[in-house]
Amino acid sequence: MRHLMSPMDFTTDELDRLFDLAADIEKNPQVYAHKCDAKILATCFYEPSTRTRLSFESAMISLGGNVLGFSDANSSSAAKGESVSDTIRTVSCFADICAMRHPKEGAPMVAATHSGIPVINAGDGGHQHPTQTLTDLLTIRSLKGRLNNFTIGLCGDLKFGRTVHSLIEALVRYDNVKFVFISPEELRVPDYITEMLTEKGIPYEEHISLEDTISTLDLLYMTRVQRERFFNEEDYIRLKDFYILDKKKMSLAKQDMLVLHPLPRVNEISVEVDEDPRAVYFKQVQYGKYVRMALILTLLELA
Ligand code: NCD
Repeated sequence: MRHLMSPMDFTTDELDRLFDLAADIEKNPQVYAHKCDAKILATCFYEPSTRTRLSFESAMISLGGNVLGFSDANSSSAAKGESVSDTIRTVSCFADICAMRHPKEGAPMVAATHSGIPVINAGDGGHQHPTQTLTDLLTIRSLKGRLNNFTIGLCGDLKFGRTVHSLIEALVRYDNVKFVFISPEELRVPDYITEMLTEKGIPYEEHISLEDTISTLDLLYMTRVQRERFFNEEDYIRLKDFYILDKKKMSLAKQDMLVLHPLPRVNEISVEVDEDPRAVYFKQVQYGKYVRMALILTLLELA
């Protein structure tokens, strides 16, 4: 039985197969409409979510399966003090596969070790968010036609943003990917990531200004300042509007630079950018559904 805890759990060949499957699902959804008949997905979300949970649920329903679960720790037995390992043992009796989001780093991993069904990490604290990374990679592959030979700027909260951490770990396996980290000093990418890049000899730069760097980028990955992971509100308020991508900054960017964002957006991308053809963050949401359909089929060995 296979779980998904980190994007590194799949080799790049396995990822290629997963993305090919997602691309086929996009083209021929009717072929997959009954692949999961009578299968059940449990979504165990101990932290708020719109896209990830609904995307998993929509994916399973589009495969012919059913869904159950909870979207708030307070409405589950966690509020009574039940452990994640007891909860997953219970959920294993009711479902065939589980997507779990948890504010504690490593909680889905603990669940996986006690589970009778495949567990998918749907985001654990500030650590990893592998299915967002699969979404990001499929978006890049589909719209740029490749997963190598580009410069990617990651901008915003690079300290607490789990989507950033997962995406960097996944992208280092592709050739000639250069990283430009753009963040305020307080929200720099963690040392374990820059140390990993140095060890692997992968080029990266760290900057504070988006204006000064945007013209060099093939991809710009914007992120929200992660309010819920701050220790005090004052720091959040000081940093939350540090970056606002607007038309003026977009005019400095390459004509084919793509703007991605895992969403939810707060203020970091002005709505005026939404109509720019380079803004692909809502397309990204659609790719997220296809890739989760492909993932469910793969982990249930129905592909
Ligand atoms: C991200 C998350 O939850 O980490 N959202 C998502 O799943 N698409 C990003 C965020 O919350 O900022």
